[in-house]
Amino acid sequence: MNKVWWKEAVAYQIYPRSFMDSNGDGIGDLPGILSKLDYLKDLGIDVIWLSPIYESPNDDNGYDISDYFDIMSEFGTMEDFDLLLKEVHARGMKLIMDLVVNHTSDEHPWFIESRSSKDNPKRDYYIWKPANEDGGPPNNWESFFSGSTWEYDEETGEYYLHLFTKKQPDLNWNNPDVVKDIYEMITWWLDKGIDGFRVDAINHMGKAEGFPDDPHPEDQRYNTGYKMFSNLPQVHEQLQKLNREVLSKYDIMTVGETSGVGPKEALLYVGEDRNEFNMVFQFEHMGIDCGTQGKWGVEPWSLLELKSLMSKWQTELYEKGWNALFFNNHDQPRAVSRFGDDGKYWSESAKLLATYIHTLSGTPFVYQGEEIGMTNVAFDSIDSYRDVEILNYYKEKVVEQGQDHDEIMKRIHHKGRDNSRTPMQWSTNDQAGFTAGTPWIEVNPNYSSINVEKQVQDPDSVLNYYKQLIQLRKKHEVLVYGDYELILENDTEIYAYTRTLGQEKLLVVLNFFGGTPTFRLPSSLHVESHELLISNYGVEEDVNIQEFQLQPYEARVYRIK
Ligand code: NOJ
Repeated sequence: MNKVWWKEAVAYQIYPRSFMDSNGDGIGDLPGILSKLDYLKDLGIDVIWLSPIYESPNDDNGYDISDYFDIMSEFGTMEDFDLLLKEVHARGMKLIMDLVVNHTSDEHPWFIESRSSKDNPKRDYYIWKPANEDGGPPNNWESFFSGSTWEYDEETGEYYLHLFTKKQPDLNWNNPDVVKDIYEMITWWLDKGIDGFRVDAINHMGKAEGFPDDPHPEDQRYNTGYKMFSNLPQVHEQLQKLNREVLSKYDIMTVGETSGVGPKEALLYVGEDRNEFNMVFQFEHMGIDCGTQGKWGVEPWSLLELKSLMSKWQTELYEKGWNALFFNNHDQPRAVSRFGDDGKYWSESAKLLATYIHTLSGTPFVYQGEEIGMTNVAFDSIDSYRDVEILNYYKEKVVEQGQDHDEIMKRIHHKGRDNSRTPMQWSTNDQAGFTAGTPWIEVNPNYSSINVEKQVQDPDSVLNYYKQLIQLRKKHEVLVYGDYELILENDTEIYAYTRTLGQEKLLVVLNFFGGTPTFRLPSSLHVESHELLISNYGVEEDVNIQEFQLQPYEARVYRIK
């Protein structure tokens, strides 16, 4: 297998608005990030991914860009950025940016021109269509953020397409001028010396020819769009061209965001012979607690399902492509609340999930606050929420359709994106040490017990466990390049597997729940000696490897011979 730096790296995602505020305006900023670089270095991070920092009216917190060549004024200036990049590099780390090119803001000059008249030269930068015969939207496609994907624009009497909010019009990638302008912009950033991109919603850049109606049952909107505007063949044509003409000229890391793909489709993006991206974020494992309700579903999840689908990713991509590993990001609730136990076994389960992510094949991504076990928040009032997806959802379900407020709030508490966007908990100081002012979104009230300051001092903290895990990855190549093999496939509580590289073999044993099941070594594995490399409990060295009992949420990694 090819050895490259981005396979060996551990990445850390920063959501700049919520990371660290340096000037007391309640909004995180670039100097704030700068002040925490030593913290990240100390954690062992190799690559920092910044969620968007470009100029934006912030309808979707920066995922609606109005100027690709400028920094959002709330975050700082281009000088701040240049300094940040220099200091990241000075510490031997790398920095990747968010590349949002499926859409822009409706306040981007291209769109302002585009909407101004039907014969404006920028008209075709976006996707405009006349009304259908009844005067309604051109088709029945539904936006990811509720309602139609079409917005009527009075000025020219046509509709424009927006898969996300109506302030995020989709770019028309069939227009060569758009392609050229975007390539120039990407080149400009790469020439500045950044180390790559996480590429937002890129699987949606191609739309079904002729924009047909989507023949879907009413209640299954998430299956629908997926046929009409996701992972279509033209996406791959575009990405190969982008790679050939721009990306391949730099030694960078690229991660595409591609919802709705299984390993086979993912290999079209990341196959080593494909020349598109290095890796993609896939979301199959984020669906295991959704039932049939789409992202807002709150259902029990099964370990067997997690095992089978993640094992499929591990084996089908092995030696052919590369996985990006994550349990948390700015669009997902906090994993410790979702797949762990944020009560009694908070610390153990946070460490368990961390062990899992860092011992699989792929590049692990840690999302800010995950390394201290930050949890979901449950604000009482809808007015405390800031995320446009949450607010649109509440408005559609409760205000417009009259659905039950408590039920919808329950779903928001479990699944809303603001769970991950509350300010980083640095200390027990006011506002968790995030700001000297009033934060743009309330801090999670549990900051007095969960914070960096406290965990730095505690050798048993979640934070220190992450540090150990990251060091373990750096020390044992088998964790990066080794083959993955699932064992105890049908065990409903224990998730166990081996990683093998040449003579080196590791055994990972994870008890995913609060019980105390017994691990029994399968007869296929012959173990003569074993050495415990890490565990989230203190374990005696003379353990009988053939059979042992696990504590709630216990995780152990052995080197075996
Ligand atoms: C995916 C991003 O991660 C999410 O935060 C954003 O709302 C959409 N893409 C639209 O850009």
